[in-house]
Amino acid sequence: MYRHVEESQTLLINTQSKLLVNQNKKNFKFGFGQSPFLPPKKVLSALEKAVHHKEYSSVQGDPELRQLMSAFHKDHNGLEVHPDNILIAPGSKILLYTILLAFEKADVFIPAPAWVSYAPQAKLIGHHIIKLSTTFEDKWRVTPKSIQEAVKFKKNNASILILNFPGNPDGLTYNEKELIDLAKISRELNILVISDEIYGLLNHNQAHLSFANYYPERTITTTGLSKWCGAGGWRLGAAFLYNNIEPEFKQALIGIGSETYSCAPSPVQMAAKTAYKSYNNIIDYLDYQIQILKQIGNYCSDRLNASQIRVHAPEGGFYLFPDFSVYSEKLKNRGINTSQKLCEQLLSDTGVALLPASAFGFEEQYLAARLAYVDFNEPEEGVPFNLNKDCPNIIEGIEKLCNWIERF
Ligand SMILES: Cc1ncc(COP(=O)(O)O)c(C=O)c1O
Repeated sequence: MYRHVEESQTLLINTQSKLLVNQNKKNFKFGFGQSPFLPPKKVLSALEKAVHHKEYSSVQGDPELRQLMSAFHKDHNGLEVHPDNILIAPGSKILLYTILLAFEKADVFIPAPAWVSYAPQAKLIGHHIIKLSTTFEDKWRVTPKSIQEAVKFKKNNASILILNFPGNPDGLTYNEKELIDLAKISRELNILVISDEIYGLLNHNQAHLSFANYYPERTITTTGLSKWCGAGGWRLGAAFLYNNIEPEFKQALIGIGSETYSCAPSPVQMAAKTAYKSYNNIIDYLDYQIQILKQIGNYCSDRLNASQIRVHAPEGGFYLFPDFSVYSEKLKNRGINTSQKLCEQLLSDTGVALLPASAFGFEEQYLAARLAYVDFNEPEEGVPFNLNKDCPNIIEGIEKLCNWIERF
């Protein structure tokens, strides 16, 4: 017998959207969260120059790259992890899987909403998944109370909590007080925290706070080039372990890496060195992206709210998580009673692609969806960004979405 594993919903929506394009139908690609920015020029040329690096690297990753990443994150967000305790891999996704796989059996606390792949990964391994409820009013934040509630469903296994901020699908982050409170309860309950901070450098105020600063003894932080550097397809992720990591845990992680992915692509590791070395260039490059993302995100959330589609203004990354509940009666009268149906109907009526809330851990009936505001072109070099000129698809797509729902 085979395992039942469905294709990840994010990749699926991309395929469906491409199908519309092939049928010559206009498509607003708000379903798939891929950065529209190119990596910085210096990094692109570093990759070109590194193609001859055909050798495998060590499983843990190039030592110089680990050292550079350690220094960069220490300066940038106070993460103090020794290069020996950093793992580089082909993307942070496989590192998340590796960390989960290092446990024979675990109780894994996953917030709803949360990124689409955490639960399927934990399920594949056979871990016990415990959902953490959050609310729109609480800006989808995990609270100590939600953890205390969820602990009742534990099964006597090791506890792992997955946090992700700025968040996919919500685009929101945690403030310092919230992180301190979460660290306190994690410590009390002896929880290993995986803090997925892949969007950390895209905090819209450049003020990302790493969870490990508040719970250094048992937080693993994951990050990488995919989002801030616009290089998802290059596949380079990193896990910052903690400094007193149990030797058998670290051994398990390296062992799993050695028996599965072997190492991250060597040329990409070389290019990543340039990315993390040119700190000042990075700051300018990030600032440039953030100013653009912030403008677009705020434009979208204002416009959606004006049409009674409830959504929080974004604080980082490039996602919004609009809630269509105000329209639920009207939608239900037309047979739209799940987020999946909502997205299918919207896509076929308007060409606007969103990802249903059911993919992020909600019940099917909850009428919300993820909107990735990345369907725009990076402005030409030296030309200032202009929302109207550079984002015609965003503006038209959001207008179509609002007009569509208002007609119900
Ligand atoms: C929240 C979150 N975590 C992890 C990943 C995986 O990123 P990577 O490309 O490093 O595997 C993504 C990518 O979409 C993501 O959105």
